[in-house]
Amino acid sequence: MKVAVVGATGMVGGVMLQVLEERMGAKVGTLLPVASERSAGKTVRFMGQDIAVIGLEEAVKAKPDLALFSAGGGTSLEWAPKFADAGTIVIDNSSAWRMDPDKLLIVPEINGHLVEETDFSRGGIIANPNCSTIQMVMALAPLHKRYTVQRVVVSTYQSVTGTGMKAVRQLEDERQGREGEKAYPYRIDGNVLARCDVFLDNGYTKEEMKLVWETRKILDPAIRVTATAVRVPVTGGHSEAVNVQFATEYTLEEVRRLLRATPGVELVDAPEMDAYPMPLHANGKDSVFVGRLRRDESQPNTLNMWVVADNLRKGAATNAVQIMELLVGQGIPQAAKA
Ligand code: A2P
Repeated sequence: MKVAVVGATGMVGGVMLQVLEERMGAKVGTLLPVASERSAGKTVRFMGQDIAVIGLEEAVKAKPDLALFSAGGGTSLEWAPKFADAGTIVIDNSSAWRMDPDKLLIVPEINGHLVEETDFSRGGIIANPNCSTIQMVMALAPLHKRYTVQRVVVSTYQSVTGTGMKAVRQLEDERQGREGEKAYPYRIDGNVLARCDVFLDNGYTKEEMKLVWETRKILDPAIRVTATAVRVPVTGGHSEAVNVQFATEYTLEEVRRLLRATPGVELVDAPEMDAYPMPLHANGKDSVFVGRLRRDESQPNTLNMWVVADNLRKGAATNAVQIMELLVGQGIPQAAKA
């Protein structure tokens, strides 16, 4: 199977290579690492080999079976259709196609069946949700099934890794007292920025609206969501304070049982042992960690929880490779299953 990773020199692209190697290994017969002209002459490491980075034109011409995209929305808007027209199935990590009514927005544990019900034998584009959305819906999905989620109020505490390499370098430079390029207009070390992505006309940021739009598309259009997305000087993962209002009564015991039984979710909720999820522990792991389960005592049928995940893994690369696994499980591309 021939697989392109577009944005292979970037933050998410690097983790995509890692997760591809871990989960698919030798099934990836040919890897095509793709980046901008700035990366000409660079190599990436995959399965013990150094592989030269190529450009987008060359990659389309190579007609890969699958392409994992994480090179920004502009690149996806322009290039994903060219790959799809060449017969490639694109799994796109940008926000370019997520809300397109003709494109699937997939978290395999929740709506992976939609991939199985769609014919991708001639290529196409599948959208990978936003990192903050993925970890939140992973925790909400089993509870929605049982109690019907009516409304969600979420505040995020997002890792700088979600902004990319430049942001991680800015944090490191500030910690070392070095001058350098800035990903954020303000200092991030020792600070908290109440803006992720751009401001929109309604006063919310695009990241906040992604949580609203994407949660509804993945789980249920009837769910009301309101969000505050915040960047914190952390590298290991995103954290979220999630307040969930259900249509029916619930018990904390049953919520714990439901979350424990959910593949991809790990419950870390033992106040007596001072145990709750942290980005430091989530870093490098594929699970979504949930804890601090409490009744919202200010109104009925409402739960508070704390949700943490490595935004580069389940929030991006792992979810994308899991989508790829669904396709391979269907025998796409033809030889991949064998
Ligand atoms: P490059 O390293 O050549 O700039 P990050 O989000 O960590 O900054 O990474 C972004 C990734 O997307 C990098 O691999 C980057 O390549 C790639 N990229 C950005 N713009 C383009 C483009 N116009 N064409 C191809 N790749 C791009």
